[in-house]
Amino acid sequence: MKSPLLRFVIGGLVAALMSSSALAHVGNHPSVHDTVAGIALRLREKYKETELKILTPYQVYKILTDREKDVLGNEHITFKVNVPVKISIFRDRSIKSEPFWIRDRDFDLTGMLLKLGKTEFDVWEKTFEAGRVGLGVNSFGKGKHYLIAVSPVNASDRVQVTSLYPATLRLGTFKKDEKPYVDADDKLPEVPADLREDLMIRTEAQSANDARLVEYFRWTQHVSTSQPDQLHLTWSGDPQTTQTFQWRTSPDVKQGALMYQKKALTNRFKPTPLDRVEAETRVMETPNIINDPVINLHKVELNGLEPDTTYVYSVGDGTEEGWIELQEFTTAPDKVKPFSFVYMGDAQNNLYRWGSLLQLAHRQRPDAAFYVMAGDLVDKGNDRDDWDGFWYNCDDIYAQKQLVPAIGNHENQGGHPTMYLEIMNLLENGPDDVEKERAYSFEYSNALFVVLDTNIDPKTQTAWLERTLAESTATWKFAIYHHPAYSSAPSRDNADIRKLWGDIFDKYHVDLALQGHDHAYLRTFPMKGAKRVGSPKEGTVYIVSVSGTKFYGQDKRDYTEFGMTNTPTFQALDLQINGDRLIYRAYDFKGDLRDELIIDK
Ligand SMILES: [Fe+2]
Repeated sequence: MKSPLLRFVIGGLVAALMSSSALAHVGNHPSVHDTVAGIALRLREKYKETELKILTPYQVYKILTDREKDVLGNEHITFKVNVPVKISIFRDRSIKSEPFWIRDRDFDLTGMLLKLGKTEFDVWEKTFEAGRVGLGVNSFGKGKHYLIAVSPVNASDRVQVTSLYPATLRLGTFKKDEKPYVDADDKLPEVPADLREDLMIRTEAQSANDARLVEYFRWTQHVSTSQPDQLHLTWSGDPQTTQTFQWRTSPDVKQGALMYQKKALTNRFKPTPLDRVEAETRVMETPNIINDPVINLHKVELNGLEPDTTYVYSVGDGTEEGWIELQEFTTAPDKVKPFSFVYMGDAQNNLYRWGSLLQLAHRQRPDAAFYVMAGDLVDKGNDRDDWDGFWYNCDDIYAQKQLVPAIGNHENQGGHPTMYLEIMNLLENGPDDVEKERAYSFEYSNALFVVLDTNIDPKTQTAWLERTLAESTATWKFAIYHHPAYSSAPSRDNADIRKLWGDIFDKYHVDLALQGHDHAYLRTFPMKGAKRVGSPKEGTVYIVSVSGTKFYGQDKRDYTEFGMTNTPTFQALDLQINGDRLIYRAYDFKGDLRDELIIDK
């Protein structure tokens, strides 16, 4: 039996899905996303937890309404054709049952096969009249996204495909070396002669899981309670005068509040009362988290703080008994002042081990002002249980030190960092035509920090990057992003990032690029124009590091000054003002110094 509370929560969720978001999507029908969320809720009503773990695609199919079949069978990919066409669907054979809409709509199984890497596709065909074509979701389970070839029924016709939805899809040609996905690097092998040079609709690899309901349900080890947890600091405004806080509670805690005061005032014989601010509370729904599907997030943004000042604060539900233990935070200085910060590469897996490294960093460098994380904070960025593990292992360190994150490919799980953007409260001063909070910048003392998003086309950020660097008079300049411009991993290379951003780093002299993704440690020689130069005064030093426990090999490249494998590290960077010196040090799991670089301006 489900508890009355859970029934209430599910009821509320269904109502919310039906009322607000269901029609937010383009077109006069619920979106695939909302349809899947609605089905997920019904599955949870119908099956026991143990049964949800072993759901089959057929069990999912059986509970679909006609309306849902229509949305999931027709609205995943849509487009228009000007003449009658034959559509060929290449389906990942490792998905045991074919998508229900292929079966229901009488696609014919041809004998053709195609191999893309290790994946084998079988081919299904059906003819369509001129007009709108709607195709369905990839699968209720795992598997690669299907590929689509389009050819005219009458050989003399010229097919034109228009009104492609989603707008991120692209047209291509069905031929060797064509990339069938818009968001992955797979390339077609030699293709069946029958289909060679047909039109191809290049799909989104990441949308393969849009309707995943098999192996979809998850359990969090860190269930929300009425006590605030996951409390952390970020900057969504000026670090000198603002501070943003966020924490989590169970959904029964409908409000939150924060009390704060300058620390200096708390030592007085007759203490002054603390200032109080009410939190902005919002519901976060994750229907796939069986044991904690709804949480409340409480956010406060303080403005008008004094620079270079330590404050004490507490958060709670607003009642006298609800306050948590006092915490502290410190605002950025309004003048040039020495400071330190910590930078870490990918955490991602075994977060309890990563948590120990974070605690070591905090013990060893309690003076560090804030923590930079260059992406892949978690493994599955759109699964809330992973974030629950992350915050749990942060052990409240980010309740005292601001977290400055960049988006990794793992936050971008499924093609969009939805949950990251929902959770994080960051500066919105990035490029105008890039989604807010994906890229941002701020200054701290005499240093500029530019955070970029390498999951999207680097071109989208070049003009903004250049302007941000050009406008800054900061002595030190740091670029923070996930996919490295200089890789440590064999056979990995992100040439577009190096080419597009490297030139700008050169022009405005970025001192250090703090990167991740390659699961090893690399410090390059100072580089300029993609060539080694004599000193960091002339070029940029690019770092790759990893703070978690997943490791890749490393090739020594001509740009490698120092590299390590199988070594999680944290980096402490000390910016000294006398003589304008930067001391950069990398420490391992034992706290031993493993790499050091001193840059004098
Ligand atoms: Fe990564």
